[in-house]
Amino acid sequence: MEVSQVRYHLRCLNFIAGMVVSDTLVTEFDYERQDASGATCTARAWARVPAPVSAEDRQRLKAQAKELLLRHQAVLVAHYYVDGDLQDLALETGGCVADSLEMARFGRDHAAQTLVVAGVRFMGETAKILSPKKRVLMPTLEATCSLDLGCPEDEFAAFCDAHPDREVVVYANTSAAVKARADWMVTSSCALAIVRHLKSQGRKIIWAPDRHLGRYIQEQTGADMLCWSGACIVHDEFKGTELALLRDKHPQAQVLVHPESPASVVAQADVVGSTSQLLQAVVQGSAREYIVATDNGLMHRMRQLAGDKVLMEAPTAGQSATCKSCAHCPWMAMNALENLVQCLQGQAPEIVVPQPIRQGAVSCIERMLDFVKRHPASLSRPVQGFVPAQGAA
Ligand code: 13P
Ligand code: SF4
Repeated sequence: MEVSQVRYHLRCLNFIAGMVVSDTLVTEFDYERQDASGATCTARAWARVPAPVSAEDRQRLKAQAKELLLRHQAVLVAHYYVDGDLQDLALETGGCVADSLEMARFGRDHAAQTLVVAGVRFMGETAKILSPKKRVLMPTLEATCSLDLGCPEDEFAAFCDAHPDREVVVYANTSAAVKARADWMVTSSCALAIVRHLKSQGRKIIWAPDRHLGRYIQEQTGADMLCWSGACIVHDEFKGTELALLRDKHPQAQVLVHPESPASVVAQADVVGSTSQLLQAVVQGSAREYIVATDNGLMHRMRQLAGDKVLMEAPTAGQSATCKSCAHCPWMAMNALENLVQCLQGQAPEIVVPQPIRQGAVSCIERMLDFVKRHPASLSRPVQGFVPAQGAA
């Protein structure tokens, strides 16, 4: 059974002024559900992650990829969570390593006619939607995201239809078809500023799909938000209790948290922000120690840019518990040097977004890009501190 065939169950929560006023069971996405062979959705994703290769093979593949990027005049656009070799390759060849927002802008603005996106599928789709004439390749199209999987287009359309008076705001981590239903796309770096803007205009909001990010934004802005209840399998596993114990051992450490994490983790953050904003916080911060609650792929760049600092991963589970992601995204991990070389050699797989869907999705993305261009200051500083139900400290 394919991942997309797993049944979805999602909850919607109606937040008004910080209070949950209704909790209507719609459906719930169950990542544990097993197929006939006994494998879960997450286990199937891990099973498709390429096996590690020797140091010698990595050097050979990297050199091959460099030559192919040059030959095809292609540029590599990578996310911080992918394999460190891919991140290094992107930077060594004039590409970028960035958060979702910067990846979208970089791909759109770069002159290359072939973009190779090392990340997850929604990132490739966003690149294609913004640059329909460019060829957008990905090492694998299997690389999806639990947030995208947890927000199927038909169920989301029914949700929107039921609330026609609300502005539809979707997180970047959704399919092109879901974006086609949205008024705004946002990423973790600009979601707060955009929702704050909508609230100032008196707009009520439908938010999808990440429940933790939705709650965080609602608490920060006080906006009237009707929230879908998806989750990121990586960030959902960070544990508030274990984080508190680690902080006890390292009282001087700054706590950096991606807002896809649960409330108990966000509540202990010194800085809440996108991957780029968390990286910036380590590079510019005056503290010596940092506890980082996001996918551990980001540690590669943090170590490169702030090698003198002590970096610790936030705990994902208690001593006897098991984790499904263990702070690393299986779909990001599907990107490897081997399938990158194959994709450059065969010029496939290529991202295709059907024209009617592209036409529907492009305006919500461009609206976000216009907004951040007009309000650059809204991105320049990560949120410092967070007091639940009271907003930033
Ligand atoms: P950023 O936009 O902060 O890089 O987040 C993307 C993502 O998928 C986080 O899990
Ligand atoms: Fe999606 Fe989470 Fe993976 Fe990011 S880390 S791509 S939100 S599953």
